[in-house]
Formats: sequence, C-alpha cells, structure tokens
Amino acid sequence: MTIPSRVKLVDVGPRDGLQNEKQPVPAAIKIELVHRLQDAGLTEIEVTSFVSPKWVPQMADNAEVMAGVQRKAGVRYSVLTPNMQGFEAALQSGPDEIVVFGAASEAFSQKNINCSIAQSIERFRPVAQAALEKGIAVRGAISCAVGCPYEGEIAPERVEMVARLMRDIGVQHVGVADTIGVGTPSKVQKALEATLKIYGVDHVSGHFHDTYGMALANTLASLQMGIWNFDTSVAGLGGCPYAKGATGNVASEDVVYLLHGMGIDTGIDLDKLVDAGKFISDFLQRKPNSRAATALLNKRLG
Ligand code: HMG
Ligand code: MG
Repeated sequence: MTIPSRVKLVDVGPRDGLQNEKQPVPAAIKIELVHRLQDAGLTEIEVTSFVSPKWVPQMADNAEVMAGVQRKAGVRYSVLTPNMQGFEAALQSGPDEIVVFGAASEAFSQKNINCSIAQSIERFRPVAQAALEKGIAVRGAISCAVGCPYEGEIAPERVEMVARLMRDIGVQHVGVADTIGVGTPSKVQKALEATLKIYGVDHVSGHFHDTYGMALANTLASLQMGIWNFDTSVAGLGGCPYAKGATGNVASEDVVYLLHGMGIDTGIDLDKLVDAGKFISDFLQRKPNSRAATALLNKRLG
C-alpha cells in the first residue's frame, strides 16, 4: 500500500475540543473559530453536538453556533446526533453531515450515552435512515477502538462487530477512535484492519487522542495502510467528559506539519491554522497544545 498523496482533515476542535472545557466559551468565539478554520482551508468542520445540555453543558448553544456560521462553499459542516431528538433539533440547523457515536466497549457506551451497544444501534438506525432520506451524509464514530478507561484493552473483533452494525444501518463512513489515546501503531493498525473488513479504505478515518503522545505515530501508521481521512483538533483541544483521563485530539497543526513535510497535500494553510489555534488558545488563556504551532509561533518572534 502506498502512502496517500492527499489527506482530508476534519477539524473537530469546535466540538470535541470545546465540549470538555469547564469555562464558558461564548457562541461568538466558537463561530469565530469555525470561520478561522474554514479560512485556513479546512473543508470539513465538526461544529457542535445535539446532545443533552445536562450531559454536556458546553454544547448547549448548538443551534446558535450553527446559525452564526457564515458558510463557505465546499465546506462540510457536521454535528453529533446521538438519537432522534438530537437529529430533529439538528435538522433545523441544516448540517451537511451528522455523526452517530457508538463504542466498542459496553462500559463506555453506558457511561457516554447511557445505553448498551445494541441499544445505541437501535437509536442510531432511524437517525441514519432519516438523514439519508434528506440527503445528509452519515458518519459514525467507534469510541474506545483500542482501549477503554473502564474495560482496558479492546479486541479488534469488537471494533469489527460495531463497524458491521453501523454499516448495516446505513452509516457511510466510520472513524476509528482512540478515545483515551492509549493506542500504539500496531494496536491501531489492528483496529483499522478490523474496520477495513467492513468499510473500504476511503470510508474509514483515524480519530486519535494524544494522551500518551502516540497520536502522530498512530497517524503515520494509518497512512501506511492507505488511510487518508483523519479527525484532528486545532491547538490540540479536546477530550471526552465521559472518558476519564483522556486529553485532547492530536493537534491539527502537528498533523499538517507532518503531512506537508511528507509531500502530502491537505489544502490547508498552516500559518492560518496556527493563527486559528492561537486565537482559541488566547481566549482559553493557555498555549496551543501543539509542538508545531509552538515552534512556528516562536519563529515568528524571531
Ligand atoms: P438519556 O438520559 O438516556 O436520554 O441520555 P433520555 O432519552 O432518557 O432523555 C432524558 C432527558 O434528556 C430528557 O430531558 C430528554 O429530553 C433529554 P428531561 O425530560 O429529563 O428534561 N435528551 C436530550 N436533550 C437534548 N438533546 C438530545 C437529547 N436526548 C435526550 N439529543 C443521551 C442519552 C445520549 C441524550 C445522553 O447520554 C447524552 O447527551 N450523552 C452525550 C454524551 C456526549 O456528548 N459525549 C461526548 C461526545 S462523544 C465523544 O467525544 C467521542 C468522539 O470524539 C470519538 C472518540 O474520541 O471516542 C466522538
Ligand atoms: Mg474524540
């Protein structure tokens, strides 16, 4: 398998990144972040989620954020919808893509969405069907695809099972998620191999949190399998409130630096991406959690 010559990144910063923030982030800041990401050349942005505001208060402004985004042609705006209630609310905002999020771990499924894996699939089924009928793309996330904070290591067969269940309800594309960032290249490759038994390589993404600093290595290991879609988060923001100990997603800036350095096209302007990361980091009063962004910002200072 040759390394892809082009890679598509979905910036999940506004959603995965900000969902875990304790301090309030006004809708206007989230909207500005989305604008900066699209100006930097991102063609897919995970904007928000239509989940229970009791479970994830930071995403309670979902409709306001979606309404405030000035859409750019060629950009796909996605939102998370765990059930029909979320889907119906999301519909008012006109997303291009919805994301149902399941898990390869029973315990995590219970903690995150309050139901078993089997029940989650039954909740996703009408969501996927309704979305497809309306011409909205359907993506799925498979959380804890290599490890779970409650169950430990997850067998690739579990990932294959969830991928099959998702395919059977019409999910068009799945993300293999290392929710707590415990994966190493060979483990991630096994989870991807399991998924590739069910989905073609164009329909599988990597979604790697960077808790143990392995996310870039895992990205490279995925590229070596021909995977060319990745979820990344500007400034390395992120974490799931129901995945204890999980830190942010791999920083978009670091992945773009890696890809461009390998001669792989992303369509992203790294300087503008660094600016977007600095914008949100300044608001959060911290430094971007990205080595490449830090290096580039230091270089600018001369
Ligand atoms: P539940 O309590 O089982 O739901 O929660 P329910 O159907 O029994 O309803 C209970 C209450 O929730 C009712 O309100 C509903 O109206 C409300 P009440 O009558 O008590 O006032 N409700 C909703 N409100 C707004 N939007 C909805 C909705 N559904 C029900 N869609 C539920 C089930 C899934 C809603 C809940 O567990 C939840 O919201 N979980 C969200 C968890 C979450 O967002 N986690 C983070 C995203 S996933 C992630 O980060 C992982 C990912 O990045 C990949 C990776 O890294 O692994 C994608
Ligand atoms: Mg995540």
